[in-house]
Amino acid sequence: MSPAPVHLIDLSGLEKSWVLDLFEEADRLRLVRGTRNAPRPFAGRTAALVFHKPSLRTRVSFTIGMHDLGGDVVELSIAEVSETGRESLPDVARSLSGMCGLIVVRTFAHRIVQTLAEHSSAPVINALTDFSHPCQVLADLYTLKRAGRDVDAINIAWIGDGNNVLHSWLQASHIFDFSLSIAVPDGFEPDGGLFIEAERHSKGGVRRVRDPREAVAGADVVYTDTWTSMGQEKDADWRRVMFAGMTVNESLMALAKPDALFMHCLPAHRGEEVTNEVIDGPQSIVVAQAENRLHLQKGLMVALMRATEVKKRTVRKSAPAPVVPAGA
Ligand code: CP
Ligand code: NVA
Repeated sequence: MSPAPVHLIDLSGLEKSWVLDLFEEADRLRLVRGTRNAPRPFAGRTAALVFHKPSLRTRVSFTIGMHDLGGDVVELSIAEVSETGRESLPDVARSLSGMCGLIVVRTFAHRIVQTLAEHSSAPVINALTDFSHPCQVLADLYTLKRAGRDVDAINIAWIGDGNNVLHSWLQASHIFDFSLSIAVPDGFEPDGGLFIEAERHSKGGVRRVRDPREAVAGADVVYTDTWTSMGQEKDADWRRVMFAGMTVNESLMALAKPDALFMHCLPAHRGEEVTNEVIDGPQSIVVAQAENRLHLQKGLMVALMRATEVKKRTVRKSAPAPVVPAGA
């Protein structure tokens, strides 16, 4: 069994038992939220929140989550943290982790989060990069579990762009046994390496089909996301043309199982990837997905803090005794 992770950069390599424990921690914290029994393990500690892209759900859930756990947050932007800014990323990581109990980063290049994690003694959490969005998919899996679905036995259809959220779903397919059918237009496929690895390792099966109707047929979950992710705004018109026919509407939903759920990480572009009737309809669980970001990430922050403390104790125990200068 691999040691518990101290950072959350991606879902690759995570043990299923660790994720299930995380869901239990999220449940525990959710049930005592706002009561006298709510734990405050982050009292006296601060999380640095670095946002290079806009955010509603992620910013609010990490901020409220830290406050619930007794801690505080400090917000930083591209002016303080960047690859080409006023100081190196390793210096940023070392300085922040000396003062902060946690570093949460939403940025463009995945390597920024990786570099910060390499040089930080505090846990680093990927709050979305161009490559992946692991917190979203952990919270989505938790949402499905809360909705009474067995994530080892369901069929998930992904309709739309082969983007960061899909990448995290492909990584999650190594952990749980759901099947994943993706319908993405040519030229918008997910990362080839991730897809091949998922095809090879997923027990439930991962496949790409051309027709959204084929992906959705018999699905338990229909998931879509914006056709224009943050940073791609200048291509929005062209993307709308390329994704024509990929809208999740009522007639597409009708091909899924009668009790199928509709999921979207939000923000949604209503009338593009999804119609109002579907996103506001009885099968939609998008609001639960948003709320569960809070509970899941509180569990995540607690789990990473615990793993960091265990790691620090282990390092201290195995460190050689300090050399005392003669005559001291
Ligand atoms: N789903 C999600 O990450 O939302 P925000 O971009 O609003 O944080
Ligand atoms: N794919 C979207 C997800 C937003 C939460 C984006 O990167 O903008």
